[in-house]
Amino acid sequence: MELSKEIKEQNRYMEKVKELNQNKTKHYYILTMGCQQNENDSEKLCGMIEQMGYTKTEDQKQAEIVIFNTCCVRENAEERLFGKLGELKKIKEEKEIIIAIGGCMMQEKHITDKIKASYSFVDILFGTHTLHKFPENLYKLLEKKTKQEDIIDIEGKIYEGLPIKRESKYQASVTIMNGCNNFCSYCIVPYVRGRERSRKPKDIIEEVKDLAQNGYKEIILLGQNVNSYLRVEKEKNIQFEEYEGINSFATLLKAINKIEGIERIRFISPHPKDFTDDVIEAIASCKKVCKLVHLPLQAGNSKVLKEMNRKYTKEQYLKLVEKMKKSIQNLTLSTDIIVGFPGETEEEFKDTLDVVNKVKFEQVYMFIYSRRVGTPGDRMKNQIPEKEKHERFNKLKNLVENQIAENNKKYINTIQKVLVEGTSKNNDKMLTGRTDSNKVVVFEGNKKLIGTMQNIEIISEHMWFLRGQVKNVPQKM
Ligand code: 5AD
Ligand code: SF4
Repeated sequence: MELSKEIKEQNRYMEKVKELNQNKTKHYYILTMGCQQNENDSEKLCGMIEQMGYTKTEDQKQAEIVIFNTCCVRENAEERLFGKLGELKKIKEEKEIIIAIGGCMMQEKHITDKIKASYSFVDILFGTHTLHKFPENLYKLLEKKTKQEDIIDIEGKIYEGLPIKRESKYQASVTIMNGCNNFCSYCIVPYVRGRERSRKPKDIIEEVKDLAQNGYKEIILLGQNVNSYLRVEKEKNIQFEEYEGINSFATLLKAINKIEGIERIRFISPHPKDFTDDVIEAIASCKKVCKLVHLPLQAGNSKVLKEMNRKYTKEQYLKLVEKMKKSIQNLTLSTDIIVGFPGETEEEFKDTLDVVNKVKFEQVYMFIYSRRVGTPGDRMKNQIPEKEKHERFNKLKNLVENQIAENNKKYINTIQKVLVEGTSKNNDKMLTGRTDSNKVVVFEGNKKLIGTMQNIEIISEHMWFLRGQVKNVPQKM
């Protein structure tokens, strides 16, 4: 079926469920695990569910439908899902509720087998390629009272035109590509999200223009490999319509930079191997593109990087960082690091510490290697004992925390541009927002400032956040 027809068909199912729900107050509860891509998928799920007449609740017990959008990048997400399912079993014994589980983990057969065998009270199972069919699956469940399982293993398609209910009124994530072709040997993503494919330039630009018109200030471009946007299409000679001169990630950044109303552009995640000069130039020259670049290192040792199938060496990574620092004024960097990849020796791990020492990242997301069924890493014989992995993790954590404390000092007495996101979680008299370099800033101010960009003077640092005060710019007479 043609893609737009498939979405039209789902619209009809949304209407049908809405009819069933007429004059009834129904609630849904959604739990999202994992990355921003998953958050973005959940916003689409919420869009569809609200169109079917359900209202969001934060109280699981109030909900008629409970949905989990799962992640499978690391093992702890699995533990969380099965823990939650245990909780829900008790609720379902007392009350009729619909339980739906979707997302990345559902693309793993050993997981769905376990759910079907031990958690048979689950009503709907859907995968990453069938998220858009949630209305159909829900309708069939409501009408036929039969459990729905809708998981397919395909290369993947891109669906346009799904309703979306965004979490924030000021920041919006926009998916620019799906899937991954890199097959890093520790990573499950290419197996559960299919092959790399890019959205059409026109569809992205129209979405961003629409967001700008609706008052959104910050756009976060999402993809497993954002800086290879349109690469596969070019390699495979797949025709795509150029729009506003967009034929690469660099030109996409430049086109979005021109959209009036948008004040900030972020992107996650690029891959170091695809960081071409045109992308560096675009970041440097586009005023709205944040000068914080997330550049996943994963490991600092060249042999480990080769085993990880990352396609760059320690030296190449450091050279790239040098080049970027020279070309992009006020550049800051963040990264992802995995410790304890199979075969990593203590000496090799020291290369990771060495890179961290040299680069001085603004932020480091640290992970203990987690075996993922079906990946080459899982089949490697030389797995590192848990105790050693934890020891390395703690060493890295100590180094990173010392660096962050040191780095925070450079913010004191500076004026930072902050997009005011809302009130502080711990104190609703305080406002909170982020700097260009993604640092959380907490300050006193009128709630009317929420959603605006403010100049904030930083007065103190507290490891994970900075304290500041609004810096009033003198009015021109
Ligand atoms: N174990 C630990 N961390 C992992 N990541 C991906 N796969 C694994 C794994 N098997 C980390 C990588 C990636 C981030 C999103 O999650 O650092 O960049
Ligand atoms: Fe996983 Fe590597 Fe693809 Fe990132 S680039 S999603 S780490 S396989």
